[in-house]
Amino acid sequence: MTQQAPFDPMPLRAQFPALQLEVDGKTAVYLDGPGGTQVPQSVIDAMSGYLHHGGSNSGGPFFTSRYTDEITDAARLAMMDLYNARRPDEIVFGQNMTSLNFSISRALARTWQPGDEIIVTRLDHDANISPWLLAAEDRGVTVRWLDFDPADCTLRLETLPELLNEKTRLLAITYASNAVGSISDVRRAAELAHKAGALVLVDSVHFAPHGLIDVQAIDCDFLISSAYKYFGPHTGILYGKYELLDGLMAYKVRPAPSKPAGKWETGTQSFESLAGVTAVVNYLATLGGEAGSRRERLVQAMARTKTYEMSLSLRFLRGAAQVPGLHVYGITDVERLDERTPTFAVSLDGFSPEAVAERLGELGIFVWHGHYYAVAVMDRLGLLDKGGLVRIGFNHYNTADEVDQVLAALASLR
Ligand SMILES: Cc1ncc(COP(=O)(O)O)c(C=O)c1O
Repeated sequence: MTQQAPFDPMPLRAQFPALQLEVDGKTAVYLDGPGGTQVPQSVIDAMSGYLHHGGSNSGGPFFTSRYTDEITDAARLAMMDLYNARRPDEIVFGQNMTSLNFSISRALARTWQPGDEIIVTRLDHDANISPWLLAAEDRGVTVRWLDFDPADCTLRLETLPELLNEKTRLLAITYASNAVGSISDVRRAAELAHKAGALVLVDSVHFAPHGLIDVQAIDCDFLISSAYKYFGPHTGILYGKYELLDGLMAYKVRPAPSKPAGKWETGTQSFESLAGVTAVVNYLATLGGEAGSRRERLVQAMARTKTYEMSLSLRFLRGAAQVPGLHVYGITDVERLDERTPTFAVSLDGFSPEAVAERLGELGIFVWHGHYYAVAVMDRLGLLDKGGLVRIGFNHYNTADEVDQVLAALASLR
C-alpha cells in the first residue's frame, strides 16, 4: 500500500451539504453524530437517483424490477465488504437495528428452554437489552448481567467466565458504548462465550463509524449496525452466520423466500436507502485511497479516520481538563485513546445536562443530553433520575476548531 497523506477533513466537509448549515450566521457544529450523522452528496444522489430512475418492487421480470434487484444485490455486496462477511446472503436489511434485533431475538428465543440463561451488559444501548429481557421473560429464561467499571466505564470482561455456564445460550454485547464511548473486546468475549457453547450478538451501531468491523475476525454469530450512524441512510444491517440464518425459523409471511437473506427481510425494503447504503460504503472506501479492493480500501480508511479521531479525542480531553467544573465520564487516560471512540459524556457543575445542551444549541453547537437510550449505563452511574449527561460526539468530519469551540462554549457557561 502507498503511504497516505495525513487525514484532512476539510475537502470531505465540502461533500456534506448539511455541514454548510448556518445558525445565526455561524456554521453549525454537529457534535450529535452518535445520534445520527450527516450524509455526503454521493449518498443523496444515489437515493434520489433510485427514485428518479423509476423503481419497482423486487422479483419482477421487467426492467425496473430488475434494476431494483441490482440495487439490492449491490448493497449486499457493499455491506459484505464493510463487515467482511463470507457471502452476500449473510447480510440482511431492515428498518433499523432495533427492529432487526427484535426479529432475531424472537427467532432465537424459540430455541430456548425454561431454565436456560442469557447474558446482557450494562454498557449496552437499550436496543440490545430490552429485546432480550422480553424474549427471556416469554421463555422463562434467566438473564445475567455483565457489569462495567464505573471508574472508566469499560466492561468487566474478566467477570464474564463467572457468568457463563453450560446453560448460557446467548451473549448480547455492545462493540462500543453510545454514551461513554468505551470499546469492548468483542473478540475475546466471543471466544469465551463460544467456549461455553453460547451464541454471540454484537451491537456495532456506535462502533461502526469509528473503527473497522471484521465479523470473521471477531467470530460473532450476529452483528447489527445502522447506516445512519455512519453517513448513510436510515437502514439497519444485520450480519448472521449463514448456517444460523438458514437454520433458524424466521417470523415471515408464507410466500417470502425461505432462504437467507430474504426470509429475514420482512415486507418491502426501502430500495432508495439500499442505493444509499452502497454509496456510503463507497464513500468510506474513498477515504482509504484508490488502490486495492473495496475491502482493502475500507481497511485503510478506517485506520486513517481512527488515527484522526484519536487526535480529536486527545485535544478534547486536554482542553476539558482546563475547564473548571467539567467532568468527563469513561476513559480519560490519553494513553488509552484507542480503547474509546471520540464520544464523551460530560457534566458541568451548576448546570443540568438539559441546560447545557440548550445553551450550546443556542450557539449552533448540537449535542444530546439525557440517557440517549443507554438507560442501563445511566442507571449504573446513578444518573438516570438526575437528567443523565451531556453527550459530545465527534467523528471524522469534525475539526480541531470545533473541539475548541465546544470547549470554549462550555467554559463560557461558567
Ligand atoms: C449503540 C446503539 N445501539 C442501538 C441503537 C438503535 O439503533 P436504531 O436506531 O437503528 O434502532 C443505537 C441508536 O442510537 C445505538 O447508539
